[in-house]
Amino acid sequence: MFIFAVLFAASVRLASAATAQVFEPPSKGPLVQSANYTSFSNSTLNDKTVVKGKVFNRIMHIFLENTDFATAASTPTFESLAEQGILLTNYNSVTHPSQPNYIAQVGGDFFGASADDMFHIPSNISCVVDLLEDKGISWATYQESMPEDSYYGVEYTATNYVSPGAAPYPYYMRKHNPLMVYDAVSQDPERVKRVRTFNDFANDVVNGSLPQWMFVTPNMVDDAHDTTIDFAASFLEYWLIPLLSDPRVNGEDTLILLTFDETETYTEQNTVWAVVLGTAVPLSLRGTTDDTLYTHYSSLSTVQNNWDLKSLGRQDTNASVSNVYSFVAEKTGYKNTHIPASEVPYFNLTGIFPGPLSSSAYVPFSAPNLAARGAGGEGVLTRPGLNTHLTAGNLPAPVNLTALDMTTPWQMSPETTSGKNIIPCANAACA
Ligand SMILES: *[C@@H]1O[C@H](CO)[C@@H](O)[C@H](O)[C@H]1NC(C)=O
Ligand SMILES: *[C@@H]1O[C@H](CO)[C@@H](O)[C@H](O)[C@H]1NC(C)=O
Ligand SMILES: *[C@@H]1O[C@H](CO)[C@@H](O)[C@H](O)[C@H]1NC(C)=O
Ligand SMILES: *[C@@H]1O[C@H](CO)[C@@H](O)[C@H](O)[C@H]1NC(C)=O
Ligand SMILES: *[C@@H]1O[C@H](CO)[C@@H](O)[C@H](O)[C@H]1NC(C)=O
Ligand SMILES: *[C@@H]1O[C@H](CO)[C@@H](O)[C@H](O)[C@H]1NC(C)=O
Ligand SMILES: *[C@@H]1O[C@H](CO)[C@@H](O)[C@H](O)[C@H]1NC(C)=O
Repeated sequence: MFIFAVLFAASVRLASAATAQVFEPPSKGPLVQSANYTSFSNSTLNDKTVVKGKVFNRIMHIFLENTDFATAASTPTFESLAEQGILLTNYNSVTHPSQPNYIAQVGGDFFGASADDMFHIPSNISCVVDLLEDKGISWATYQESMPEDSYYGVEYTATNYVSPGAAPYPYYMRKHNPLMVYDAVSQDPERVKRVRTFNDFANDVVNGSLPQWMFVTPNMVDDAHDTTIDFAASFLEYWLIPLLSDPRVNGEDTLILLTFDETETYTEQNTVWAVVLGTAVPLSLRGTTDDTLYTHYSSLSTVQNNWDLKSLGRQDTNASVSNVYSFVAEKTGYKNTHIPASEVPYFNLTGIFPGPLSSSAYVPFSAPNLAARGAGGEGVLTRPGLNTHLTAGNLPAPVNLTALDMTTPWQMSPETTSGKNIIPCANAACA
Protein backbone atom coordinates (compact mmCIF):
# COMPACT_ATOMS: atom_id res chain seq x y z
CA MET A 1 0.00 0.00 0.00
CA PHE A 2 2.74 2.39 1.04
CA ILE A 3 4.83 1.50 -2.01
CA PHE A 4 1.80 1.94 -4.23
CA ALA A 5 1.16 5.40 -2.76
CA VAL A 6 4.77 6.45 -3.37
CA LEU A 7 4.70 5.18 -6.95
CA PHE A 8 1.38 6.88 -7.55
CA ALA A 9 2.73 10.19 -6.21
CA ALA A 10 5.82 9.85 -8.39
CA SER A 11 3.78 9.21 -11.52
CA VAL A 12 1.54 12.21 -10.81
CA ARG A 13 4.66 14.35 -10.51
CA LEU A 14 6.02 13.08 -13.80
CA ALA A 15 2.70 13.55 -15.52
CA SER A 16 2.39 17.13 -14.36
CA ALA A 17 6.00 17.85 -15.34
CA ALA A 18 5.32 16.51 -18.81
CA THR A 19 2.26 18.71 -19.32
CA ALA A 20 3.40 22.05 -20.64
CA GLN A 21 2.34 24.89 -18.39
CA VAL A 22 0.66 27.84 -20.06
CA PHE A 23 1.20 31.35 -18.71
CA GLU A 24 -1.44 32.72 -16.35
CA PRO A 25 -1.11 36.21 -14.91
CA PRO A 26 -0.31 35.98 -11.19
CA SER A 27 -2.21 39.21 -10.56
CA LYS A 28 -4.60 41.69 -12.20
CA GLY A 29 -1.54 43.67 -13.25
CA PRO A 30 2.12 44.26 -12.37
CA LEU A 31 1.19 47.07 -9.96
CA VAL A 32 -1.72 45.29 -8.28
CA GLN A 33 -1.02 43.16 -5.22
CA SER A 34 -2.11 39.53 -5.43
CA ALA A 35 -2.99 36.76 -2.99
CA ASN A 36 -1.15 34.46 -5.42
CA TYR A 37 2.01 35.96 -3.90
CA THR A 38 1.01 34.73 -0.40
CA SER A 39 1.28 37.82 1.83
CA PHE A 40 0.50 41.46 1.18
CA SER A 41 2.98 44.29 1.50
CA ASN A 42 3.16 45.97 4.92
CA SER A 43 5.21 49.03 4.04
CA THR A 44 7.03 50.82 1.29
CA LEU A 45 10.63 51.90 1.13
CA ASN A 46 11.17 55.48 2.09
CA ASP A 47 14.43 56.67 0.56
CA LYS A 48 14.60 60.43 0.27
CA THR A 49 17.76 61.12 -1.69
CA VAL A 50 18.53 60.33 -5.30
CA VAL A 51 22.27 60.12 -5.92
CA LYS A 52 22.90 61.35 -9.46
CA GLY A 53 24.85 58.97 -11.68
CA LYS A 54 26.90 60.05 -14.68
CA VAL A 55 24.73 58.13 -17.16
CA PHE A 56 21.79 56.66 -15.21
CA ASN A 57 20.08 57.29 -11.89
CA ARG A 58 18.36 53.92 -11.59
CA ILE A 59 19.27 50.41 -12.68
CA MET A 60 17.05 47.33 -12.69
CA HIS A 61 18.50 43.87 -13.37
CA ILE A 62 16.13 41.11 -14.44
CA PHE A 63 17.44 37.53 -14.61
CA LEU A 64 15.61 34.83 -16.55
CA GLU A 65 16.82 31.23 -16.62
CA ASN A 66 18.64 28.61 -18.66
CA THR A 67 18.23 29.69 -22.28
CA ASP A 68 20.58 29.65 -25.24
CA PHE A 69 21.16 32.92 -27.10
CA ALA A 70 19.53 31.69 -30.33
CA THR A 71 16.38 30.56 -28.52
CA ALA A 72 15.69 34.00 -27.06
CA ALA A 73 16.85 35.80 -30.21
CA SER A 74 14.25 33.98 -32.32
CA THR A 75 11.31 34.66 -29.98
CA PRO A 76 9.14 37.64 -31.04
CA THR A 77 8.84 39.33 -27.62
CA PHE A 78 12.61 39.27 -27.21
CA GLU A 79 13.13 40.48 -30.79
CA SER A 80 10.85 43.39 -30.08
CA LEU A 81 12.63 44.23 -26.82
CA ALA A 82 15.96 44.17 -28.67
CA GLU A 83 14.58 46.84 -31.01
CA GLN A 84 13.89 49.07 -28.01
CA GLY A 85 17.40 48.80 -26.56
CA ILE A 86 20.95 47.66 -27.31
CA LEU A 87 21.31 43.92 -27.84
CA LEU A 88 24.58 42.73 -26.26
CA THR A 89 25.73 39.89 -28.51
CA ASN A 90 28.81 38.85 -26.51
CA TYR A 91 27.50 38.90 -22.93
CA ASN A 92 28.56 35.81 -21.00
CA SER A 93 27.53 34.02 -17.86
CA VAL A 94 30.50 32.93 -15.79
CA THR A 95 29.90 29.22 -15.06
CA HIS A 96 27.18 26.58 -14.51
CA PRO A 97 24.77 25.80 -12.84
CA SER A 98 22.49 28.69 -11.81
CA GLN A 99 23.38 29.76 -8.32
CA PRO A 100 27.07 30.61 -8.85
CA ASN A 101 26.06 33.03 -11.61
CA TYR A 102 23.73 34.90 -9.26
CA ILE A 103 26.36 34.94 -6.50
CA ALA A 104 28.90 36.34 -8.99
CA GLN A 105 26.54 39.00 -10.26
CA VAL A 106 26.34 40.73 -6.88
CA GLY A 107 29.64 39.67 -5.27
CA GLY A 108 32.28 39.70 -8.02
CA ASP A 109 33.10 35.98 -7.70
CA PHE A 110 31.33 32.63 -7.53
CA PHE A 111 33.81 31.37 -4.95
CA GLY A 112 34.25 27.95 -6.56
CA ALA A 113 30.53 27.12 -6.29
CA SER A 114 29.29 24.53 -8.76
CA ALA A 115 26.06 23.61 -7.02
CA ASP A 116 22.68 25.06 -6.16
CA ASP A 117 23.17 24.09 -2.50
CA MET A 118 22.06 26.34 0.32
CA PHE A 119 25.25 28.32 0.87
CA HIS A 120 25.95 31.34 3.01
CA ILE A 121 28.92 33.68 2.68
CA PRO A 122 30.38 35.10 5.91
CA SER A 123 29.73 38.70 6.86
CA ASN A 124 33.32 39.84 6.31
CA ILE A 125 32.85 39.27 2.56
CA SER A 126 31.48 42.31 0.74
CA CYS A 127 28.92 42.52 -2.05
CA VAL A 128 27.40 45.26 -4.21
CA VAL A 129 25.20 46.47 -1.34
CA ASP A 130 28.31 47.62 0.56
CA LEU A 131 29.43 49.65 -2.46
CA LEU A 132 26.01 51.23 -2.93
CA GLU A 133 25.44 52.12 0.73
CA ASP A 134 28.94 53.60 0.91
CA LYS A 135 27.67 56.31 -1.48
CA GLY A 136 24.11 56.49 -0.10
CA ILE A 137 22.51 54.78 -3.11
CA SER A 138 19.23 53.02 -2.28
CA TRP A 139 18.70 49.42 -3.32
CA ALA A 140 16.36 46.43 -3.07
CA THR A 141 15.83 43.02 -4.53
CA TYR A 142 12.33 41.97 -5.59
CA GLN A 143 11.70 38.22 -5.63
CA GLU A 144 8.52 37.00 -7.27
CA SER A 145 6.61 34.44 -5.17
CA MET A 146 8.88 34.84 -2.14
CA PRO A 147 6.15 34.65 0.52
CA GLU A 148 7.20 37.53 2.77
CA ASP A 149 9.96 40.10 3.21
CA SER A 150 13.36 38.79 4.28
CA TYR A 151 12.35 35.13 3.82
CA TYR A 152 15.37 32.90 4.45
CA GLY A 153 13.97 29.47 3.53
CA VAL A 154 15.46 27.41 0.71
CA GLU A 155 12.20 27.42 -1.28
CA TYR A 156 8.51 28.21 -0.95
CA THR A 157 5.61 26.17 -2.24
CA ALA A 158 2.38 28.10 -2.78
CA THR A 159 -1.12 27.48 -4.10
CA ASN A 160 -0.92 26.61 -7.77
CA TYR A 161 -2.28 29.60 -9.68
CA VAL A 162 -1.15 28.47 -13.15
CA SER A 163 -3.15 25.24 -12.92
CA PRO A 164 -5.81 25.89 -10.27
CA GLY A 165 -6.61 22.74 -8.33
CA ALA A 166 -3.26 21.10 -9.15
CA ALA A 167 -0.72 20.38 -6.41
CA PRO A 168 0.88 23.38 -4.70
CA TYR A 169 3.94 24.55 -6.63
CA PRO A 170 7.48 25.55 -5.56
CA TYR A 171 7.45 28.95 -7.27
CA TYR A 172 10.23 30.51 -5.15
CA MET A 173 13.83 29.28 -4.83
CA ARG A 174 16.54 30.89 -2.71
CA LYS A 175 19.21 29.84 -5.23
CA HIS A 176 17.93 32.67 -7.46
CA ASN A 177 17.98 35.26 -4.64
CA PRO A 178 21.68 36.12 -4.49
CA LEU A 179 21.75 38.80 -1.80
CA MET A 180 20.22 36.33 0.66
CA VAL A 181 23.35 34.19 0.27
CA TYR A 182 25.51 36.98 1.70
CA ASP A 183 25.40 37.18 5.51
CA ALA A 184 26.33 40.86 5.10
CA VAL A 185 22.73 41.25 3.90
CA SER A 186 20.73 38.36 5.38
CA GLN A 187 22.06 38.81 8.93
CA ASP A 188 21.70 42.61 9.00
CA PRO A 189 18.18 43.41 10.28
CA GLU A 190 17.93 46.69 8.35
CA ARG A 191 19.40 45.40 5.10
CA VAL A 192 17.36 42.21 5.00
CA LYS A 193 14.13 44.25 4.87
CA ARG A 194 15.22 45.20 1.36
CA VAL A 195 14.86 41.60 0.23
CA ARG A 196 11.29 42.17 -0.90
CA THR A 197 8.31 40.50 -2.52
CA PHE A 198 6.50 41.32 -5.75
CA ASN A 199 3.61 42.69 -3.70
CA ASP A 200 6.16 45.06 -2.17
CA PHE A 201 7.27 45.98 -5.68
CA ALA A 202 3.72 47.02 -6.58
CA ASN A 203 3.44 48.99 -3.35
CA ASP A 204 6.85 50.66 -3.78
CA VAL A 205 6.05 51.72 -7.37
CA VAL A 206 2.61 53.07 -6.53
CA ASN A 207 4.09 55.01 -3.61
CA GLY A 208 6.89 56.42 -5.80
CA SER A 209 9.55 54.78 -3.67
CA LEU A 210 11.46 52.46 -5.99
CA PRO A 211 15.15 52.41 -5.07
CA GLN A 212 18.06 53.25 -7.38
CA TRP A 213 19.57 49.74 -7.71
CA MET A 214 17.32 46.70 -8.12
CA PHE A 215 17.67 43.00 -8.77
CA VAL A 216 14.46 41.32 -9.92
CA THR A 217 13.91 37.55 -10.00
CA PRO A 218 10.71 36.27 -11.62
CA ASN A 219 9.38 32.99 -10.21
CA MET A 220 10.26 29.47 -11.40
CA VAL A 221 7.65 29.46 -14.15
CA ASP A 222 7.89 33.09 -15.28
CA ASP A 223 11.70 32.99 -15.62
CA ALA A 224 11.51 29.97 -18.02
CA HIS A 225 13.25 27.67 -15.52
CA ASP A 226 10.42 25.14 -15.34
CA THR A 227 8.72 26.25 -18.54
CA THR A 228 9.60 27.57 -22.00
CA ILE A 229 10.83 30.76 -23.59
CA ASP A 230 7.27 31.44 -24.75
CA PHE A 231 6.02 31.29 -21.16
CA ALA A 232 8.72 33.78 -20.13
CA ALA A 233 7.82 35.95 -23.13
CA SER A 234 4.17 36.04 -21.99
CA PHE A 235 5.35 37.03 -18.52
CA LEU A 236 7.37 39.92 -20.00
CA GLU A 237 4.33 41.02 -22.06
CA TYR A 238 2.31 41.04 -18.83
CA TRP A 239 4.90 42.53 -16.46
CA LEU A 240 7.86 44.32 -18.07
CA ILE A 241 6.39 45.76 -21.24
CA PRO A 242 3.66 47.84 -19.54
CA LEU A 243 6.22 49.02 -16.96
CA LEU A 244 8.49 50.31 -19.73
CA SER A 245 5.94 53.02 -20.47
CA ASP A 246 5.30 53.81 -16.79
CA PRO A 247 7.40 56.80 -15.67
CA ARG A 248 7.29 55.56 -12.05
CA VAL A 249 9.45 52.63 -13.16
CA ASN A 250 11.17 53.72 -16.37
CA GLY A 251 11.44 57.40 -15.50
CA GLU A 252 14.27 59.70 -16.45
CA ASP A 253 17.73 58.11 -16.72
CA THR A 254 16.66 54.51 -16.04
CA LEU A 255 18.69 51.53 -17.24
CA ILE A 256 17.24 48.01 -17.37
CA LEU A 257 19.36 44.91 -17.97
CA LEU A 258 17.30 41.92 -19.07
CA THR A 259 19.33 38.72 -19.39
CA PHE A 260 19.59 35.04 -18.47
CA ASP A 261 21.62 33.44 -15.68
CA GLU A 262 23.26 30.90 -18.02
CA THR A 263 22.81 29.05 -21.30
CA GLU A 264 20.77 25.86 -21.44
CA THR A 265 23.52 23.94 -23.28
CA TYR A 266 26.58 23.40 -21.08
CA THR A 267 28.84 22.21 -23.90
CA GLU A 268 28.81 25.57 -25.69
CA GLN A 269 30.28 28.95 -24.79
CA ASN A 270 28.08 30.53 -22.12
CA THR A 271 26.94 33.52 -24.21
CA VAL A 272 23.45 34.51 -23.09
CA TRP A 273 20.98 36.88 -24.71
CA ALA A 274 21.14 40.27 -22.97
CA VAL A 275 19.60 43.64 -23.70
CA VAL A 276 19.98 47.05 -22.07
CA LEU A 277 16.75 49.03 -22.18
CA GLY A 278 15.28 52.10 -20.60
CA THR A 279 15.29 55.85 -20.90
CA ALA A 280 19.05 56.01 -20.23
CA VAL A 281 19.75 54.28 -23.55
CA PRO A 282 20.25 57.02 -26.19
CA LEU A 283 17.56 57.07 -28.90
CA SER A 284 20.23 56.83 -31.59
CA LEU A 285 21.42 53.48 -30.20
CA ARG A 286 18.05 51.79 -29.82
CA GLY A 287 17.72 48.76 -32.07
CA THR A 288 21.51 48.41 -32.42
CA THR A 289 23.82 45.61 -31.29
CA ASP A 290 27.07 45.74 -29.31
CA ASP A 291 29.59 42.90 -29.60
CA THR A 292 31.90 44.03 -26.76
CA LEU A 293 32.87 41.16 -24.43
CA TYR A 294 30.78 41.40 -21.27
CA THR A 295 30.11 39.00 -18.38
CA HIS A 296 27.89 39.11 -15.29
CA TYR A 297 30.76 41.08 -13.68
CA SER A 298 30.15 43.91 -16.15
CA SER A 299 27.12 45.08 -14.22
CA LEU A 300 29.26 45.61 -11.11
CA SER A 301 31.85 47.59 -13.06
CA THR A 302 29.18 49.59 -14.91
CA VAL A 303 27.49 50.55 -11.64
CA GLN A 304 30.87 51.46 -10.11
CA ASN A 305 31.73 53.55 -13.17
CA ASN A 306 28.38 55.36 -13.16
CA TRP A 307 28.49 56.38 -9.49
CA ASP A 308 32.29 56.50 -8.82
CA LEU A 309 31.95 53.63 -6.37
CA LYS A 310 34.63 51.62 -4.60
CA SER A 311 35.13 48.08 -5.85
CA LEU A 312 34.95 44.58 -4.41
CA GLY A 313 38.55 43.84 -5.53
CA ARG A 314 37.45 40.54 -7.12
CA GLN A 315 36.52 39.74 -10.73
CA ASP A 316 34.73 43.10 -10.90
CA THR A 317 38.24 44.60 -11.19
CA ASN A 318 39.58 41.99 -13.63
CA ALA A 319 39.63 44.09 -16.81
CA SER A 320 39.41 41.06 -19.09
CA VAL A 321 35.97 40.02 -17.80
CA SER A 322 34.41 43.26 -16.57
CA ASN A 323 34.04 45.68 -19.47
CA VAL A 324 31.62 48.54 -18.74
CA TYR A 325 28.59 48.71 -21.08
CA SER A 326 30.11 50.63 -23.94
CA PHE A 327 27.43 53.32 -24.23
CA VAL A 328 28.16 54.12 -20.56
CA ALA A 329 31.96 53.92 -20.99
CA GLU A 330 31.77 56.30 -23.95
CA LYS A 331 30.00 58.93 -21.88
CA THR A 332 32.26 58.61 -18.82
CA GLY A 333 35.51 58.31 -20.78
CA TYR A 334 36.29 54.87 -19.32
CA LYS A 335 38.54 52.72 -21.49
CA ASN A 336 37.33 49.16 -22.00
CA THR A 337 39.70 46.27 -22.72
CA HIS A 338 39.58 44.63 -26.13
CA ILE A 339 40.10 40.87 -25.97
CA PRO A 340 40.71 39.21 -29.35
CA ALA A 341 38.18 36.43 -30.03
CA SER A 342 40.94 33.80 -29.88
CA GLU A 343 41.77 34.84 -26.28
CA VAL A 344 38.26 34.91 -24.87
CA PRO A 345 38.16 32.28 -22.10
CA TYR A 346 35.49 29.59 -21.89
CA PHE A 347 32.82 30.55 -19.40
CA ASN A 348 31.13 27.13 -19.52
CA LEU A 349 33.64 25.38 -17.22
CA THR A 350 31.96 23.81 -14.21
CA GLY A 351 33.21 22.32 -10.99
CA ILE A 352 36.92 22.79 -11.59
CA PHE A 353 37.57 26.02 -9.70
CA PRO A 354 38.93 25.87 -6.14
CA GLY A 355 37.06 28.06 -3.67
CA PRO A 356 35.32 28.26 -0.31
CA LEU A 357 32.03 27.00 -1.82
CA SER A 358 33.70 24.06 -3.61
CA SER A 359 33.43 20.63 -1.99
CA SER A 360 36.03 18.98 -4.20
CA ALA A 361 38.63 21.78 -4.03
CA TYR A 362 37.93 23.67 -0.82
CA VAL A 363 40.04 26.69 0.13
CA PRO A 364 39.01 29.36 2.65
CA PHE A 365 37.68 32.74 1.54
CA SER A 366 40.47 35.08 0.54
CA ALA A 367 40.58 38.81 1.14
CA PRO A 368 39.96 40.89 -1.97
CA ASN A 369 42.91 42.31 -3.87
CA LEU A 370 43.32 45.59 -1.99
CA ALA A 371 45.60 47.02 -4.68
CA ALA A 372 42.91 46.73 -7.36
CA ARG A 373 41.34 49.76 -9.03
CA GLY A 374 37.91 49.24 -10.53
CA ALA A 375 35.89 51.21 -13.06
CA GLY A 376 34.79 53.59 -10.30
CA GLY A 377 38.40 54.76 -9.97
CA GLU A 378 38.23 54.26 -6.20
CA GLY A 379 39.86 51.78 -3.80
CA VAL A 380 38.56 48.45 -2.55
CA LEU A 381 35.88 48.38 0.12
CA THR A 382 36.53 46.11 3.12
CA ARG A 383 34.08 44.88 5.73
CA PRO A 384 34.61 44.43 9.48
CA GLY A 385 36.22 41.13 10.42
CA LEU A 386 38.21 40.85 7.21
CA ASN A 387 41.60 39.22 7.56
CA THR A 388 43.55 41.18 4.96
CA HIS A 389 46.53 38.82 5.27
CA LEU A 390 44.49 35.98 3.77
CA THR A 391 45.38 37.04 0.22
CA ALA A 392 44.74 34.77 -2.75
CA GLY A 393 48.46 33.94 -2.78
CA ASN A 394 48.47 32.99 0.94
CA LEU A 395 45.76 30.33 0.88
CA PRO A 396 46.42 26.70 1.79
CA ALA A 397 46.29 24.02 -0.90
CA PRO A 398 42.75 22.93 -1.91
CA VAL A 399 41.24 20.06 0.10
CA ASN A 400 38.79 17.52 -1.34
CA LEU A 401 36.05 17.59 1.30
CA THR A 402 33.92 15.11 -0.64
CA ALA A 403 36.68 12.51 -0.28
CA LEU A 404 36.72 13.26 3.47
CA ASP A 405 32.92 12.92 3.60
CA MET A 406 32.54 16.54 4.78
CA THR A 407 30.62 19.53 3.46
CA THR A 408 32.03 23.03 3.27
CA PRO A 409 31.46 25.17 6.39
CA TRP A 410 29.35 27.45 4.19
CA GLN A 411 26.91 24.75 3.09
CA MET A 412 23.67 24.23 4.98
CA SER A 413 21.19 21.44 4.97
CA PRO A 414 17.90 22.60 3.44
CA GLU A 415 15.98 20.49 5.97
CA THR A 416 17.34 22.52 8.86
CA THR A 417 16.81 25.83 7.15
CA SER A 418 13.41 25.70 5.48
CA GLY A 419 10.75 28.14 6.49
CA LYS A 420 11.37 31.15 8.67
CA ASN A 421 14.48 33.19 9.24
CA ILE A 422 16.95 31.03 11.08
CA ILE A 423 20.53 31.33 12.28
CA PRO A 424 22.17 30.37 9.01
CA CYS A 425 25.20 28.52 10.29
CA ALA A 426 24.14 24.89 10.77
CA ASN A 427 27.68 23.59 11.09
CA ALA A 428 29.93 23.89 14.15
CA ALA A 429 32.89 24.64 11.88
CA CYS A 430 31.48 28.05 10.94
CA ALA A 431 30.17 29.17 14.35
C1 LIG B 1 -4.24 34.29 -9.26
O1 LIG B 1 -3.93 33.87 -10.58
C2 LIG B 1 -5.02 33.32 -11.30
C3 LIG B 1 -4.50 32.84 -12.64
O2 LIG B 1 -4.10 33.92 -13.44
C4 LIG B 1 -6.09 34.37 -11.46
O3 LIG B 1 -7.24 33.77 -12.06
C5 LIG B 1 -6.48 34.93 -10.11
O4 LIG B 1 -7.38 36.01 -10.30
C6 LIG B 1 -5.25 35.43 -9.39
N1 LIG B 1 -5.60 35.91 -8.07
C7 LIG B 1 -5.47 37.19 -7.74
C8 LIG B 1 -5.86 37.54 -6.35
O5 LIG B 1 -5.03 38.04 -8.49
C1 LIG C 1 5.00 56.16 0.99
O1 LIG C 1 6.25 56.86 1.06
C2 LIG C 1 6.24 57.94 1.97
C3 LIG C 1 7.57 58.66 1.83
O2 LIG C 1 7.83 58.92 0.50
C4 LIG C 1 6.02 57.43 3.37
O3 LIG C 1 5.98 58.51 4.26
C5 LIG C 1 4.72 56.65 3.41
O4 LIG C 1 4.57 56.06 4.67
C6 LIG C 1 4.69 55.58 2.35
N1 LIG C 1 3.40 54.92 2.27
C7 LIG C 1 3.16 53.72 2.74
C8 LIG C 1 1.81 53.16 2.51
O5 LIG C 1 4.00 53.05 3.31
C1 LIG D 1 3.32 41.67 6.78
O1 LIG D 1 3.31 41.43 8.20
C2 LIG D 1 2.74 40.22 8.59
C3 LIG D 1 2.67 40.20 10.10
O2 LIG D 1 3.93 40.51 10.64
C4 LIG D 1 3.55 39.07 8.02
O3 LIG D 1 2.95 37.84 8.36
C5 LIG D 1 3.61 39.20 6.51
O4 LIG D 1 4.43 38.19 6.00
C6 LIG D 1 4.14 40.56 6.12
N1 LIG D 1 4.10 40.74 4.68
C7 LIG D 1 5.20 40.78 3.95
C8 LIG D 1 5.02 40.98 2.47
O5 LIG D 1 6.31 40.68 4.39
C1 LIG E 1 32.67 24.78 -23.63
O1 LIG E 1 32.33 25.28 -24.89
C2 LIG E 1 33.29 24.98 -25.92
C3 LIG E 1 32.87 25.72 -27.19
O2 LIG E 1 31.63 25.25 -27.64
C4 LIG E 1 33.37 23.48 -26.10
O3 LIG E 1 34.34 23.17 -27.06
C5 LIG E 1 33.75 22.85 -24.77
O4 LIG E 1 33.75 21.43 -24.88
C6 LIG E 1 32.77 23.27 -23.67
N1 LIG E 1 33.26 22.82 -22.38
C7 LIG E 1 32.55 22.02 -21.61
C8 LIG E 1 33.16 21.67 -20.29
O5 LIG E 1 31.46 21.58 -21.92
C1 LIG F 1 40.95 37.43 -14.99
O1 LIG F 1 40.07 36.71 -15.86
C2 LIG F 1 40.75 35.79 -16.73
C3 LIG F 1 39.68 35.21 -17.63
O2 LIG F 1 38.71 34.52 -16.88
C4 LIG F 1 41.45 34.73 -15.91
O3 LIG F 1 42.14 33.88 -16.75
C5 LIG F 1 42.41 35.40 -14.91
O4 LIG F 1 42.96 34.43 -14.06
C6 LIG F 1 41.68 36.43 -14.08
N1 LIG F 1 42.62 37.14 -13.24
C7 LIG F 1 42.53 37.14 -11.91
C8 LIG F 1 43.58 37.92 -11.19
O5 LIG F 1 41.66 36.56 -11.29
C1 LIG G 1 35.95 35.75 7.41
O1 LIG G 1 35.23 35.37 8.56
C2 LIG G 1 35.26 33.97 8.81
C3 LIG G 1 34.24 33.69 9.90
O2 LIG G 1 34.40 34.52 10.97
C4 LIG G 1 36.69 33.59 9.16
O3 LIG G 1 36.74 32.21 9.43
C5 LIG G 1 37.59 33.91 7.97
O4 LIG G 1 38.93 33.70 8.27
C6 LIG G 1 37.43 35.35 7.50
N1 LIG G 1 38.03 35.46 6.18
C7 LIG G 1 38.63 36.54 5.74
C8 LIG G 1 39.17 36.50 4.35
O5 LIG G 1 38.72 37.54 6.40
C1 LIG H 1 37.05 14.34 -4.62
O1 LIG H 1 36.67 13.14 -4.01
C2 LIG H 1 35.56 12.49 -4.63
C3 LIG H 1 35.15 11.32 -3.72
O2 LIG H 1 36.25 10.53 -3.39
C4 LIG H 1 35.99 12.07 -6.02
O3 LIG H 1 34.89 11.44 -6.66
C5 LIG H 1 36.41 13.30 -6.80
O4 LIG H 1 36.89 12.92 -8.07
C6 LIG H 1 37.49 14.06 -6.06
N1 LIG H 1 37.72 15.33 -6.75
C7 LIG H 1 38.92 15.80 -7.03
C8 LIG H 1 38.98 17.12 -7.71
O5 LIG H 1 39.95 15.20 -6.72
